[in-house]
Amino acid sequence: MLERYEKVKEYVYGQYAKIYNEDLKIAALTHTASVDLSITFIAMARGTNLERAKVAALFHDYAQFIDNCPHSQHAKLSSLHAYKYLKECGLFKTTEIDDITYAIRQH
Ligand SMILES: [Fe+2]
Repeated sequence: MLERYEKVKEYVYGQYAKIYNEDLKIAALTHTASVDLSITFIAMARGTNLERAKVAALFHDYAQFIDNCPHSQHAKLSSLHAYKYLKECGLFKTTEIDDITYAIRQH
């Protein structure tokens, strides 16, 4: 049931593994993993879609880590990265992509 999440995870963590700055790389890996775990509990407690929540967690600070962008821009830019990847990978319906990128943009 989380096969698509696993694919996205492989991609996102693969990108984070390439971050040259060691502190930024560790922050990317540990922060993303802890938010993924937290959102798993939240989604299960609320009975909301687990897969979409976990995919949003993977990408939620993506631009912060990959572009080292200003914090004020990171939610919007991360949602754009997520949109591009989720569209191109062809695994998600438009409504799912809208849901995931909306969550990232609003966080
Ligand atoms: Fe964030």
